[in-house]
Amino acid sequence: MGRAEKVILAYSGGVDTSVCIPYLKHEWGVKEVITLAADLGQGEDLQPIKEKALTAGASNSLVENGVERFVTEFAFPAIQANALYENQYPLSTALARPLISQMLVEAAAEHGADAVAHGCTGKGNDQVRFDVSIMALNPDLKILAPAREWGMSREDAIAYGEQFGLPAPVKKSSPYSIDQNLLGRSIEAGSLEDPMVEPPEEVFSMTRAIAQTPDEPEYIDIGFEKGIPVSLNGEKYQPVALIQTLNEQVGKHGFGRIDMMENRVVGIKSREIYEAPALLALIIAHRDLESLTLTGDVSQYKRGIEETYSQLIYRGLWYSPLKKALEGFIQQTQHRVTGTVRLKLLKGNATVVGRESPYSLYAPDLATYGSQDEFDHKAAEGFIYVWGLPTKVWSKLTKESNL
Ligand code: ARG
Repeated sequence: MGRAEKVILAYSGGVDTSVCIPYLKHEWGVKEVITLAADLGQGEDLQPIKEKALTAGASNSLVENGVERFVTEFAFPAIQANALYENQYPLSTALARPLISQMLVEAAAEHGADAVAHGCTGKGNDQVRFDVSIMALNPDLKILAPAREWGMSREDAIAYGEQFGLPAPVKKSSPYSIDQNLLGRSIEAGSLEDPMVEPPEEVFSMTRAIAQTPDEPEYIDIGFEKGIPVSLNGEKYQPVALIQTLNEQVGKHGFGRIDMMENRVVGIKSREIYEAPALLALIIAHRDLESLTLTGDVSQYKRGIEETYSQLIYRGLWYSPLKKALEGFIQQTQHRVTGTVRLKLLKGNATVVGRESPYSLYAPDLATYGSQDEFDHKAAEGFIYVWGLPTKVWSKLTKESNL
């Protein structure tokens, strides 16, 4: 008896996921492996990958486009939440995992599979995100993760694949581990494992080096409706096109790089390089529009929610009840987050230089230092008396008691 009869395998075309195909069949006794390659805007032709899976022994090789769902159902809510893990990482890789899991679970139902599989190893976050998302979406499905158990080195894996007609990679493989989709790129390993080594220019592809960026600033007006980006410079864009256009424009000015030490779910610290030009610019702009349209207490309270929400996404809990509950709060705050934010792009910076909204809470007559001032200055005195009273009483006692 094998570990499963029919498996849907998340497939990227890389060495590990390719080797999973013969491994599942020959070592784990799986009768049928169907691969699923998800197009999430990684800008790669998936047709050759489809062929490769069949060569490696897959009975069927599915290629599915999920990029529209990726943007509207995953990126947009994350932007509304200003989601940044550990204050820096906009979760471009993490957000893709619950969607790929959903695609796997749907394919399993459609093709009558009793298991789904992925090629993640046992050290990363992605295995956690896949496993937890899959069990949340269909608790009855088996989850197989051969690369977590097989104990083969990369060389071993290549040699194993060759026995089953999988050609060894022709190009000298890159020393980096790279994950890429429409929202960004994550780069790890190679020389980057030394936290003191500056990332070489070759690891970047969505953002230009500062030396190559224009000398003149460029301004871009981002329009939001209910917290969702809908236009650039006054022109309406479909969700995917908006991200693509913004990636180009912002990346051209060298904005969107992150170099950070990150705390993984499995307890390891790792050095991560990211580039996510559009996503980061959108979060900066969205957060600014919130500062114009939300009351101070909602904004401040939301920051705590955002932190938790970001941790939940990072830690694979997209489909958890807490994530859903926080989503309710976030959506409730977005009804008036409509308006335009102007960003100035120059030499690696994206700076907010203007904002407007039909729901602006900024009242010039209250804020002005000029003659139109309508703020009741006398009211301040009584307010300060009450506001400071507990501190005053406390301090009196401090003086008397010396404590
Ligand atoms: N550390 C990042 C994250 O957890 C990126 C993981 C990228 N995966 C990869 N195979 N390079 O989201």
